[in-house]
Amino acid sequence: MKIDGNLKAPEEELHALWQRVVGRRSFLKGVGVAGAAALPASALGTAAALGKAKGARITDGDVAILRFAAAAEIIETDLWQQYNELGGVEGGNAAYQLALQNLDGDMPQYIADNTDDEVSHAAFLNAYLKSKGAEPVNLDEFRTLPSSEATGARQVGRLTNLLQLDVDTSWYTRYRSRLNPDLGAAFEQAVTIKKEPAIPVSDSDTPPTQQQPVPPVGDQETRMQAIANTAGFHFAYIEQGGSSLYTVLSLKASSLEVLRILVSIGGVETNHFSLWHDKAGNAVAQPLAGVVDPETGVKFPDLNSPPFGGEEFQTNLILPEPTQFISKDLPVCSVVRPSQAEFGGAVATIESFTADRLFQGQSAKFFREVMKLAKAADAARRDAD
Ligand SMILES: [Fe+2]
Ligand SMILES: [Fe+2]
Repeated sequence: MKIDGNLKAPEEELHALWQRVVGRRSFLKGVGVAGAAALPASALGTAAALGKAKGARITDGDVAILRFAAAAEIIETDLWQQYNELGGVEGGNAAYQLALQNLDGDMPQYIADNTDDEVSHAAFLNAYLKSKGAEPVNLDEFRTLPSSEATGARQVGRLTNLLQLDVDTSWYTRYRSRLNPDLGAAFEQAVTIKKEPAIPVSDSDTPPTQQQPVPPVGDQETRMQAIANTAGFHFAYIEQGGSSLYTVLSLKASSLEVLRILVSIGGVETNHFSLWHDKAGNAVAQPLAGVVDPETGVKFPDLNSPPFGGEEFQTNLILPEPTQFISKDLPVCSVVRPSQAEFGGAVATIESFTADRLFQGQSAKFFREVMKLAKAADAARRDAD
């Protein structure tokens, strides 16, 4: 998430960013939107009552939390499916798979498995909501963004854009630091990734039959490697966001069963993050380090060498550094961070994904509906008996 960027940028800047995306008028009119995907928590009182009648109590707050989680998982599923079609173990773009394998020989398998996990998260959450008499989340009407034209990609409408991303890589320095964003810290980018594809754009841009030697030779091979490296950093960005999001949402759950769902899924998001953290480091370590996309100029430097290196950048320091937690007066502790709603909650997640360009090309209605879900989730408060 753009948590760290949020800290650098005042709230007004984020608001301005948001308004640039959805437009002032549509932003202000958002309250009037109807539709299953955007039922406000207050409209779900009947759902809670239904659950109660069945002897399975679930509060409006819990419904709002789970509905946002379902939306986030549907979004995650959409982006992971795009990666999987091209670079997964049964993916269709051989050159992309080879470039990913330069980060780790098992990358295609891990991509396929991560995709399966997201599909299961989305399906489970919606089924659980239904089992409680609550409305499941359906974002199908927003599957309108174009697919990649490269060999391997299905030609279907997408929820998310992976063809041009601004990837926030400050998670890399944040998890190596003893400072915590919840206590006011901000972190620098490890790699500056602006307007870079994370999947191949077309066969003329990066032929699917090309070899991907290390280091890459030729412009098209180098561009494909830069695209695969971007994917590596994007995987970790998405999953560290999930780690914080589920931690934040857990603190708002009222029923023990909902809490069980949130911590159990959240643990797997953190598992994913840890895996991708390791793989992303290989893009910025020898022998692969030094790739520069000839189209965009995006550069993947050697983070083990000056001016980088040290605790903040060393690529094999992939486990979280113990950090300040709760109070600067307490000993440092190795934890997921941030865990405050302001920096890692539902609204913060959607704002971060927007800054990532993940929703580039989406309609104003889409932003209104996901923001409504996010605000309802953030408004939930723990109500334990
Ligand atoms: Fe997930
Ligand atoms: Fe995930």
